[in-house]
Amino acid sequence: MDESRVDKWKKGWEAGWIDFHMPKVNHSLVKYYGKLTGGKKGLRFFIPLCGKTLDMKWLSDQGQEVVGVEGVEMACEQFFQEQNMKYSVSDIPGIPDGKLFTGESGKIKLYKCDALAITSALVGKFDAIWDRGSLVAMDPPDRAGYIKMLKDVSKPGTNILAEIYEYDWDQRIKQHAPYPFFRQDVDDIFASWADVSEEERYDKIDEKSVFREWGLTWMTNIVYIMKSKV
Ligand SMILES: C[S@@+](CC[C@H](N)C(=O)[O-])C[C@H]1O[C@@H](n2cnc3c(N)ncnc32)[C@H](O)[C@@H]1O
Repeated sequence: MDESRVDKWKKGWEAGWIDFHMPKVNHSLVKYYGKLTGGKKGLRFFIPLCGKTLDMKWLSDQGQEVVGVEGVEMACEQFFQEQNMKYSVSDIPGIPDGKLFTGESGKIKLYKCDALAITSALVGKFDAIWDRGSLVAMDPPDRAGYIKMLKDVSKPGTNILAEIYEYDWDQRIKQHAPYPFFRQDVDDIFASWADVSEEERYDKIDEKSVFREWGLTWMTNIVYIMKSKV
C-alpha cells in the first residue's frame, strides 16, 4: 500500500476524526436503491472507500452482496464489531499488506488495502457501485487511478450512484478533501464510458456547521447516476 496515500486517513481514524461517518443509512442510497437494482436481489454492490458505513449492512439486509474497500484496518474491524457480526481475516493474493475481512454470512467482504490496488481480476465485476465520499476524497494525483479502477470493475449496465459536492474552492481556508466537482468535471471523468444523469441537487451548507467553518458561503450536494457502457 502507498502509505502516504492512506496514512493521513489512518491518523484521522486513530484520532477519532471521522465526521464523515453517518449514524444512519444514507438517504440517497435508500431513495435511489430501486433505480439501482430494478427490484433485483443477489446483485453485487461495490463500496469503494467504505469506512464503516452502515449502508453496507443495510444493502446486505436487502439481499445484496457487498464488497467494500477501505485502507484503514481499524475501520474494517469497527464495522464488523459495531454490527455484531463475526468475521474472519485472510490474506489478499498479490497485495502483501492487504487483509480480506469476510463476514460470517459471506455476503459482506471488506478488502483492507489501497483502493487503487483493486482490480476486476481480484474482486470481479459489479452490478452497482455506491460512491459516497470516495471520488471527492481522492487527491487530484490519484483521481485517474481511482477512475481506472472503477471502470475496470464495471461492466455494461453497471449503475454508479455518486454524491458529489459543488462549492467555491477559493473560499476554503484549508484546502483538502472533499474536493468540489462541477458538471463539466463529472462529464470529463465519466462521459466517455458512461451515461451521466444528474438526479437531484440540494443545498448542503447548513447540514453541518463545519462547512461554514471551512470558509464556505454555499455548498450544493448533487446526486448522479452513471450507467457504464463498457
Ligand atoms: C470520506 S470517507 C467516506 C467513507 C464512507 N464512504 C462513508 O460514507 O462513510 C473516505 C474513506 O476512505 C478511506 N480511504 C481514503 N483513501 C483511501 C485509499 N486510497 N484506499 C482505501 N481507502 C481509502 C478512508 O480511510 C476513509 O474511511
